[in-house]
Amino acid sequence: MKWKNEADELKKINPKHILFLCVANSGRSQMAEGIAKALAPASVKISSAGSRPSQVNPLAIEALKEIGIDISLHQSKSIDSINLHQIDVVITLCSEEICPVFSGKAVRLHWALPDPSKDLKSFIKVRDELVTRLSYLFNSSKLDSKEKIKAEVKKAYSQIATSTKSCGCSSSCCGSTKIDSKKASLDLGYSKEDVENIPEGSNMGLGCGNPQIFASLKKGETVLDLGSGGGFDCFIAANEVGKKGQVIGIDMTPEMINLAQKNAKKGNYSNVEFRLGEIEHLPVADAVVDVIISNCVINLSTDKLSVFKEAFRVLKKGGRLAISDVIKTCELPKEVEQKIEAYTGCISGASTLDEIKIFLSTAGFNKIRLTPKDESREFIKNWLPGSKIEDYVQSVMIEAVKP
Ligand SMILES: C[S@@+](CC[C@H](N)C(=O)[O-])C[C@H]1O[C@@H](n2cnc3c(N)ncnc32)[C@H](O)[C@@H]1O
Repeated sequence: MKWKNEADELKKINPKHILFLCVANSGRSQMAEGIAKALAPASVKISSAGSRPSQVNPLAIEALKEIGIDISLHQSKSIDSINLHQIDVVITLCSEEICPVFSGKAVRLHWALPDPSKDLKSFIKVRDELVTRLSYLFNSSKLDSKEKIKAEVKKAYSQIATSTKSCGCSSSCCGSTKIDSKKASLDLGYSKEDVENIPEGSNMGLGCGNPQIFASLKKGETVLDLGSGGGFDCFIAANEVGKKGQVIGIDMTPEMINLAQKNAKKGNYSNVEFRLGEIEHLPVADAVVDVIISNCVINLSTDKLSVFKEAFRVLKKGGRLAISDVIKTCELPKEVEQKIEAYTGCISGASTLDEIKIFLSTAGFNKIRLTPKDESREFIKNWLPGSKIEDYVQSVMIEAVKP
């Protein structure tokens, strides 16, 4: 896709100031500014302009309000009032071949988006396209290509699956101390019964919370676990939903799937299956799942919007999300951001609370509730000892419903 290739090129120049420009004054550049401000790192300045100052279109305001972004106080600007020498990237958004007025020296990208002024539905369509492109542009922009990151994540978890030593995202994530997985899980709120009634070897201490607490699983439900690892949460869920229920674990690392399948055999589980696949492209049919759980995985995805769109697709109407993950509470130090171990160790891929809200509502979810867990400092401080990482990331409970 042309815009994806261009976005990849753009990441390499590390832009400091991006201007969204559209001469039609219909609200596209205003929406782009609002979304980009919510998704871009704080260090990137974002502006928008049209051919003349005008009222922000009320439908643009409404479309963004739906996903939790307020642009009602935005001041629309004219291109003549912008100092073009300070801009390093201009993204034009007109439906015509190219917006005709811009003649500065900045790198120029053209995203031809249709004029949405017809109705709210058209604004929502343009909004969703902007969220897709801008989340792609800003997600993990300081690291290598998404394919390279994914390969590193797979490598890291393949090593964990095939070694006896636990590491990953538990109380000793990336630390040198060998962790006591059972104790780590009890500290996360799992019951003694939970951790004892599952096959040995499935709990590798890789979680950052306990989705079982708020998933409220019932007998007979179908549960999907995103990034199931050795099957820890799947086996607990299987015990909850009983023989009439079903649990499906998805993981992209073949060694993890192998291990989880061996564990299922060991525990004689007939209601659990593990499928090799990516959570951005779920190997699951439409509208068959009651509950999606996940534990410390979404942060590892380089395309979180697609993960939530796929989750929405496979859930039944009224189906729910119960996810434990980590969020970023402020910009990470550069030296941490640039370490691939910080990405594979569930730190630098984390989104902010606002980003997750935007992804969930753009995917179509409602009843969105994100609950950060202050007490997670206690175990997060061991993930990269000495780096004070607990000041930058925090565990969070993510709940939402497919209407
Ligand atoms: C931190 S571990 C958590 C494992 C498990 N949820 C637990 O708590 O024990 C992350 C797991 O997610 C898997 N994973 C990471 N990114 C993924 C993706 N994009 N698609 C599917 N699986 C992924 C990894 O292979 C790994 O097994």
